[in-house]
Amino acid sequence: MSETVRVMIPEEDVTKRIEEMGRQISEDYAGKQVHLICILKGGVFFACELAKQITVPVSIDFMSVGSYGDGTSSSGIVKIAKDLDETLEGKEVLVVEDIIDSGRTLSYLLEVLRKREPKSMRLCTLLDKPSRRVREVKVDYIGYKIPDEFVVGYGLDYKQKYRNLPYIGVVEGVE
Ligand code: IMP
Ligand code: MG
Repeated sequence: MSETVRVMIPEEDVTKRIEEMGRQISEDYAGKQVHLICILKGGVFFACELAKQITVPVSIDFMSVGSYGDGTSSSGIVKIAKDLDETLEGKEVLVVEDIIDSGRTLSYLLEVLRKREPKSMRLCTLLDKPSRRVREVKVDYIGYKIPDEFVVGYGLDYKQKYRNLPYIGVVEGVE
């Protein structure tokens, strides 16, 4: 069977949901400046769209953390491939992720970032697969809770493909 992508969440729905999340974050951070930490590569599409919907002052920094190889299952090994450019001390930090699966990546990352003494730190993810959780992670903003299916699009990849899809889809026909 050849590889195809079935639409799970259409583009208009994702766009609307990100608008809502931006509105909520703007309310919650009223009178403050929010420092977005975008987790590369997957988080970049969501982080950019979300940033455009936030009406309080925003700064943004990038970090690359990998716990995955090219396949569809976690290796369990977390490494920082690219660290942040700026310090977090005294900042209202909002970590922006594409998806939380086992929670291994985030639980490790949040521990590392907390040591850098931000004033506050919250977590925002476009997608959450709660049934797959191995490590407990407190998530403050969730776009969608989804079932245990391997999804692509909106930054998410399968073997580095499909990140550019403007919707969330499920890869089918993969052995
Ligand atoms: P965790 O450490 O298991 O929570 O894995 C988080 C990372 O795994 C995410 O940031 C993604 O890069 C990747 N990942 C987990 N599930 C999926 C999926 O369904 N599609 C694409 N990437 C995924
Ligand atoms: Mg990721």
